[in-house]
This record gives sequence, structure tokens and C-alpha cells, in this order.
Amino acid sequence: MCGIFGYINYLTPKSRKEILDLLVTGLKRQEYRGYDSAGVAIDTDNKDIALIKKTGKVKLLEEEINKRCAEMDMETAIDIHCGIAHTRWATHGVPSETNSHPQRSDDAHSFVVVHNGIVTNYKEVKVFLQNKGYRFESDTDTEIIAKLIHLFYIQHPTYSFRELVESVVQQLEGAFALCFKSKHFPGECVATRRGSPLLVGIKTKTRLSTDYVPILYGKDDTPASKEPSDSAHSEHRPHMRDIPVLPRTESTSEFQPLEDKEVEYFFASDAAAVIEHTNRVIYFEDDDVAAVKEGALSIHRLRRNMDDPHSREIHTVKMELQQIMKGNYSFFMQKEIFEQPESVINTMRGRVNFETQSIILGGIKEYIPEIKRCRRLMLIGCGTSYHSAIATRQLLEELTELPVMVELASDFLDRTTPVFRDDVCFFISQSGETADTLMALRYCKMRGALIVGITNTVGSSICRESHCGVHINAGPEIGVASTKAYTSQFIALVMFALVMSEDRISLRQRRAEIMQGLENLQEQIRAVLKLDAEVQALAKDLYQQKSLLIMGRGYNYATCLEGALKVKELTYMHSEGIMAGELKHGPLALIDDQMPVLMIVMRDPVYAKCMNALQQVTAREGRPILICEEGDNETASMAFKSLQIPKTVDCLQGILTVIPMQLLSFHLAVLRGCNVDCPRNLAKSVTVE
Ligand code: M6R
Repeated sequence: MCGIFGYINYLTPKSRKEILDLLVTGLKRQEYRGYDSAGVAIDTDNKDIALIKKTGKVKLLEEEINKRCAEMDMETAIDIHCGIAHTRWATHGVPSETNSHPQRSDDAHSFVVVHNGIVTNYKEVKVFLQNKGYRFESDTDTEIIAKLIHLFYIQHPTYSFRELVESVVQQLEGAFALCFKSKHFPGECVATRRGSPLLVGIKTKTRLSTDYVPILYGKDDTPASKEPSDSAHSEHRPHMRDIPVLPRTESTSEFQPLEDKEVEYFFASDAAAVIEHTNRVIYFEDDDVAAVKEGALSIHRLRRNMDDPHSREIHTVKMELQQIMKGNYSFFMQKEIFEQPESVINTMRGRVNFETQSIILGGIKEYIPEIKRCRRLMLIGCGTSYHSAIATRQLLEELTELPVMVELASDFLDRTTPVFRDDVCFFISQSGETADTLMALRYCKMRGALIVGITNTVGSSICRESHCGVHINAGPEIGVASTKAYTSQFIALVMFALVMSEDRISLRQRRAEIMQGLENLQEQIRAVLKLDAEVQALAKDLYQQKSLLIMGRGYNYATCLEGALKVKELTYMHSEGIMAGELKHGPLALIDDQMPVLMIVMRDPVYAKCMNALQQVTAREGRPILICEEGDNETASMAFKSLQIPKTVDCLQGILTVIPMQLLSFHLAVLRGCNVDCPRNLAKSVTVE
């Protein structure tokens, strides 16, 4: 959801062409996040700023750049330069060039800014600025940021660029990541975040002498400074008229500011955008203000809380560029579906020992005794991540004997659900940045619950704000539709259930069969993937339909919900996941010989009940397509068409039944001419509530 990319080269000469290529590539690497327009800002030959923006894909922006820059000197190397770029996912105002970012302060382009997130008090600030004589050209909330910094610049000509940005962010409510460039501060860049991800990649000629960058704090140590810094809706925002009082920052640590004679900085929303340049990355925290001036990066915070650190660590990111490229596949989603034999192994690697039948989850090991004493487990997430919780709830209940609540993050917050100190709350998120999930996490944390993060993105907000957690290690997931993250989340939760029951003698047999199931999973997933051509043939029969009902129960109910979500988001067809036990309570009315129905019927404890539902469907002339067990010709004979998949232990069967659903939605989307990797109106990382 929106992508920021900023590139600063200091004493590392680059031609304008190279700079633009870098900016455009940075945007392309974040295309998966979802967007509808894009733009860049660079310096011109005559010390102005050129804003180039385009509705639609980054490719179109690239063509526009080539047109617009025909007159510019593209070849001469520039020693010091700051360029910023953005992919926008419309929230305020339709996708258009005027609404695209960078947004500008004035016709002279004094300040330009790119923004992810939503400023919730923009109307109030807009009126304030209009009263000061500012005229607005876009419908965005972002434009107020560009104009506000301009106003502060006029009012406080002695302020540094960073101090101006600090003044601005004190006035903003909502969630945002921002990256600024200014004609008045050439070669400088200031970036900040609150509730939306932002990082900086650092590339130097020589190895950095430090793994830390100091944080400079304001001198102000008022009671307000004791407030938690992670509130995206701080009540301690000074009123607009109070603003000119700015605490100056000073160095408070033993570390030297990061600087190097020749250095390049890459600000981005996602490490995927910087990895081809450097693997040395700092993840910013909420309210960090990062400034690059004369090649030096400094990180500032207005106020110091009691337990704030002295520095931010420079992490070494392990992601490879190849992992975020499509390889031989036509679509990221397709590649990610076919990666599952490896990704499930990566989730278990170093954790499951099949010989000793033991599992160690390093990220939560220390907390297991506390978790065992808890009152209940709460599993919270959105979309696919929520489905992984539904898929594993039954096993968690069985192996932990604890009450397990599964919650949609948005609904959980709407209900202001009671949460207690002895609750253990799991936050499941591929991106680790989903706003609803993050808000629910903060809500539970404030109430004293233990917070466990289950994420795929190292360094993400959920990962950092959790007390402990499990990285699912599925590798980068680029396609908006979540596939391999689901199966890995599923396995991570199964592993947790196994850890919780390791000393239960009565469960030894059950644990052994699950371990065996995990060991066989890779081969069985490969076998399911071999059904691709059969699934494609099914898709050819179905792709012109308006609707698809998917039914099942027990351990396979989650597959129905997940399958229907995939079909909806990728094909724009109507699809519903139906609990087969609910059929006679309403959905049966939908059944006739025209309604496409897919049913999952495995030989598990709910087999007889599923057969009952199947008969109810066929009795109404329904023509169900079945997903059933390999060799179960008796069940298959009841179907209009069937797909036979390998059998595993009941609680893992959902990992195998979901794969044909992923393949089916993929083929339906291709046949219907839909954008597989970036479905309309959707974003990979939903950082707004
Ligand atoms: O990054 P998260 O797992 O927190 O994302 C949650 C949902 O937005 C996500 O799973 C969404 O439902 C997928 N696009 C579905 O394929």
C-alpha cells in the first residue's frame, strides 16, 4: 500500500539517468504493495526541482520520464543529489497526476514530499493553511504537509530542514511515513514515520566502522515526554498556534553520527527495494526523524522516554534479490504457490527435529512456561492470516487444553474486547504492518497481555512491538494474494501447539502422527502441485461463471474461507466459503443445477457429515466438484468432477486442500484476464485502518 523510495548520493557521482533508473527500480520493487499512480522528484540543471508524475503503472512513469527529460542533461555526473519517488494507492482523491506524489508546497517547488498512510486531521490543518493564504491543487491529505513545512520555513528561516520536519510532524495525527526534499536544502533528505513502515539502506565504499547510529534526543524532558511513543493518535500534540516552540536535539550517546566520505542512502518502505544495493539497513521506529546532511545520517527524537535506547542498530538483511524476482514464472503468485515445498521446510528448519521428535521455537522458548499458565490464547489477524488461525484453532484447543479465541483484528477493536494480563495474544501477519492487526496488538499490550508475533517480515512493526514471536521464514511474498505465507503460518501455529504439549504423555501418540505428517509434507505438497493441469482444466469450465460456493467442515472449513477469499480477490467473481453444517440453515436455497459448488470431503472424523451435505447438494441437482482423498473412488463417484489429493493427518490436511484452491483462483484469474499479482483496489500491505 503506497511505496516510498528516496535515494541520496553523497560524493558518489551519478548521472541524472542513473539516478532516475535507481528511483524507478526502487518503485518497481515495491509495485506488489499495490498502487494506482507514481511519481518522482529530482533536481533540474537550473537548481529547480522537476516533478514527474503519472497515473497507472511505473512503466508509464518511466515513459513519461523519458519524454520529460529529453531536454535535461542526463549524462553529466552529479556528486551530491537527493531524489524521492512514490507509488500511490488512492485514499483521498481519485488516482490522477495532481493527486499523485510527490506533493509540492508551491509552484516554485520549495518543498516536496512523498507520503504513505493517512493524515486524519488534514481538514483542520487545511483550513488553517487556507486562512494563511495557501491555495490547494490536489484532493490529498498529503498536500497539507508540503504547505505546512513551507509555512514554517517562512516563519523560522533559521531552522534546519530536520527541525522544520519535526515541527510539521508534531501537527499531524494519523499514520504516516514521509520523505522530504527541498530546493532550500539541496542534497539533504529528511524522513520520518509514525505507524507506517520506513527504513534506510546504507551503502559505503568501505565497511562501516559501526553497527549503530546514535539517536539524538530533544532536551525537553517534560511529563509529556514520558508518554509511550508508539501511539499513532497522540493526545499530546500541541495546538497549531503553539508550534514554534521546538526543543533542540543534542547528542546523548557515545556513538558517532554515521558518516562516510562516499556514501549512498536508500529510504524505502520495504527492504525489497534496497536489497540490490545494500544489505545494511536501519528500521525506523515511530517518531524517529532521520536526516541526511552532508553525507551524514542522524536520527532524532523530540523527547526521550525513560527506557529509550541510545542508538538504532544497522541490521544485515539476508534477503536475496533473486528471491523477489519472478524467475521462470509468469506471475509472482504462481511462483509463490510453487515455492511451497521449500517454504514449508524453511518454516520448520532448525526448529523441528524429526529424529528426537522435538521442536524448539527459539523466539518464544523463554516464554513457554508463562504461556502454559495463561487464561486463554487469542489469535488475531486479518484476511488470510485470520484464516490460518481458524485452520489451527481446533488443534490448539486439543493440544493446549486452553480456551482459544480467534478474532478478526478490525472487529476485535470495534468491540473493545476485554483483554487481561494473563491472556496470551498472537498477532498473525505476513507483512507485519497491517494497521488493524497492529492497532489490536497495541490495544492488548496496553492491557498487559503477552504479545506473540507470527510474521514473515523481519524488522516489521508487529515483529518489533511483540514481546516474543515466530518468524515463519516463508521468504518474500510479492503477489498481493497470500499463498505460501498461509501454509507457513499454519505450520508455525502447529509447531507451537506441539511445543505446548511436549510433556503430555497422553498425547505422545497424537504428537508422533503430527510429526510424521510434517515430515511428509514436502513430498505431498509436490504431489498436489502436479495436479496443476487438472486444476487448470477445471478453471476452464468455471471461469465464465458469476459465482462459486466452496463447502467443507472441521479442519477443512478454513480452506473454504481461504479458497473463497482467493477467488474473490483475484477473479472478482462472487465466492463464499460455507461451513457444510450450515447448509440447511440457508445456503441450500442457492443450490440448483446452475450454481457451481466445490466441496472438500476427506475421510476424517467429519466425513459422514460431509457426505450428508454432499447428498443434500446432489438431491437439489447440484453438480459438485469434489476435493477428496487419493484412491477414494467411492466418494469421487458422487461428484460431477473430482480432484484427488494425498491424505495426511487430519489437522494438517488443510495445508494440502488449500493448494488446489490457490491454483484454481490463479487459473481463473488468468483466464478472466485479471491482474494476478495486483488485483484491483487491493494492496499487499494494508497500512491504513
Ligand atoms: O500482511 P497480513 O498478513 O497482515 O495481511 C492481512 C490481509 O490483508 C491479507 O492476508 C489479505 O487478506 C490477502 N491479500 C489475501 O490474499
